[in-house]
Amino acid sequence: MRPGRAGVRTRAEGGDPVKALVLAGGTGSRLRPLTHTAAKQLVPVANKPVLFYGIEAIVEAGITDIGVVVGATGEEIRAALGDGSRFGARITYLPQDRPGGLAHAVLVARDWLGDDDFVMYLGDNFVIGGISACVRAFRTERPDAHILLTKVPDPSLFGVAELDADGSVVHLAEKPARPRSDLALVGVYLFGPAVHEAVAACTPSDRGELEITDAIQRLIDTGRDVRATTITGYWKDTGNVEDMLEVNRRVLEGLSPAVEGHVDDASELVGRVRVAAGARVERSRIVGPAVIGAGTVVRDAYIGPFTSVAEDCAVTGSEVAFSIVLRDSTIEHAGRLEGSLVGRSVRVAGTERAPRAHRLVLGDHSRVHLAT
Ligand code: G1P
Repeated sequence: MRPGRAGVRTRAEGGDPVKALVLAGGTGSRLRPLTHTAAKQLVPVANKPVLFYGIEAIVEAGITDIGVVVGATGEEIRAALGDGSRFGARITYLPQDRPGGLAHAVLVARDWLGDDDFVMYLGDNFVIGGISACVRAFRTERPDAHILLTKVPDPSLFGVAELDADGSVVHLAEKPARPRSDLALVGVYLFGPAVHEAVAACTPSDRGELEITDAIQRLIDTGRDVRATTITGYWKDTGNVEDMLEVNRRVLEGLSPAVEGHVDDASELVGRVRVAAGARVERSRIVGPAVIGAGTVVRDAYIGPFTSVAEDCAVTGSEVAFSIVLRDSTIEHAGRLEGSLVGRSVRVAGTERAPRAHRLVLGDHSRVHLAT
């Protein structure tokens, strides 16, 4: 140990390996109805599962030894990630028998982690700009824990941190009814081996989970070196469709255009548009940034800016702007859709026959706004 900041101990510098522990369990209740049928970590942003951005950010930070904690949706997660080689990583799956909380996931991974430093990354979180800078700082400074914070409008939906005048973390609370600050814990945490002792001392919270916030609070209370960085450019599913459309918009803004599919002469692509191989665009206008997934057909349609249409969809005689459409869905003669999130295998169709009424078959937890 070498002396750290006032009153805290800092671990000596070392070149130990850093692993990543990616949490991909949980039920995704906030993104219903999308997550009735799919893992929340696989919800796409710009036609790519949110989890892939996390894995890519980890690999970009120089970490290739990745443990993925999986629960009830484990099969789907395994099918999507495989052995990790497509990301240049080696993935070990760590089954968690119940959604017991983030600290429980660390317990599950205890043997796999050994005494190595690790980044814990919640698979439904999205950090614009990646995590390389904070991993680099952690590798050199090697505190016992380094957390990331971000200002949010609704802190009671998150873990909330309170800092003192020097910016040191003094108090953490999990989803407090009366938050003491607007600084939410981002789902990316860097830990040294001291966390295991703190996790082992956790008892279930009011929601019956072993909370990582409690473990970090314990590190603080026992004089360990816990640091925090406040970041911008963060997103997580809070069940808020606007947020999801917004993160999709941010990612699409950085899109590099590519037309690999077929676009006929009667169609026009404006700005940054990506048409995947096997997609077809006929007699349509697409204004980017927008992505059209493989196997999708856009016919006599308008696709407006900030729109992602996933694989194997059909958009016919309709207008879709600032929206996300998941795979295998059909939108035909539906007028104009805006600010919409359309799930998998959904059919949205206009009606030509009287009565010209809205006829709906909606899954549980669906939301519809009709332009009446
Ligand atoms: C978890 C943590 C919370 C953190 C959030 C970030 O919440 O408990 O402190 O702010 O992740 O994604 P959960 O997703 O379990 O509700």
